[in-house]
Amino acid sequence: MFTDKFAKAELAHTPTPLEHLKNLSKKLNGPKLWIKRDDCTGLAMGGNKARQLEYYLGHAIQQGADTILTTGAVQSNHVRMTIAAARKLNLDVEVLLEQRVSGRKVQYYQSGNPFLMQLMGAKIHHHPEGEDEEGADTVLFSIAQRLRAEGKKPYVIPLSENYLPYGSLGYVDCAVELLQQCKKQSFKADAVILATGSAATHAGLLTGFRAMGYDTPVLGFCVRRDKNAQAQRVLKKSLQVADMIGFSGLIDPSDVWVDDNMLYPGYGQLNPPLIEAIDLLAQCEGILLDPTYTGKAMAGMLDLIERKHFSRGQNIIFLHTGGAPALFGYPEILDEQT
Ligand SMILES: Cc1ncc(COP(=O)(O)O)c(C=O)c1O
Repeated sequence: MFTDKFAKAELAHTPTPLEHLKNLSKKLNGPKLWIKRDDCTGLAMGGNKARQLEYYLGHAIQQGADTILTTGAVQSNHVRMTIAAARKLNLDVEVLLEQRVSGRKVQYYQSGNPFLMQLMGAKIHHHPEGEDEEGADTVLFSIAQRLRAEGKKPYVIPLSENYLPYGSLGYVDCAVELLQQCKKQSFKADAVILATGSAATHAGLLTGFRAMGYDTPVLGFCVRRDKNAQAQRVLKKSLQVADMIGFSGLIDPSDVWVDDNMLYPGYGQLNPPLIEAIDLLAQCEGILLDPTYTGKAMAGMLDLIERKHFSRGQNIIFLHTGGAPALFGYPEILDEQT
């Protein structure tokens, strides 16, 4: 409905299940916990990027593109899924991998996502910087220029904030889907918790809820930058998305909730609450979280529950955005197991 006017490539397995986390809810004796399984979207092992890529690739095909370019960290789920999407749509694909995480072991560079990227046969370029989003985009646009000179029609999925967030439209759709599922299961969501990185997911979901007339809090745990920078980014993207779907000015700064207490020591780096959260969900529910995004968001949710942020009767939804392939790049998680 809100997103009908945008071109969309059919890539994601949706609707994804909304499941009750029975064991975890019982163990924590707090609010009723639910999990929205966007780790089950398909596209080479799933994740939130499938919904986002439907709109980027839709736009690319509409523009007649034959080659997709994007960038991300060495263990990027976004890059893995972009390659899968391009393969499914029979497009060429070239990717840039940034050195965003220092001090990692050999598995980080070879297992999990980089393994799958190679398996799907993408052309891989390397970028020595990890914290220079505009620089990475500049490299992508220079590759695009070279391809154009060779007669190809490249389409860049950029990383920095300077471009329209087509991917967020996928999470406007997800908001509608999730509200329908809650209605069907006869409960009202009191909050949704997620990992907030590029902010495409956060902005889309928040804007989707508000466009539907719901004031559901969307609680974002930072995985990349501190809460002031992230709040600005979420607000900017949300206003862009609102504008794109015809609801200009819909989002107020007070709608944006972010917390960076689980970000330390930085993007893609482990900390004890994250490892405990990964262990807990694996052992209590058989759910696989990831070391960069969902593990930190879950650690944040567990912390909020411990600090009695929610009351017992409330319904809290954790958005599982995927990322489990990256577990194979972090074998030391097992050494740290409690
Ligand atoms: C598994 C996973 N969860 C969450 C995120 C964050 O989503 P967004 O970049 O839309 O904020 C990402 C981003 O790469 C991801 O791979």
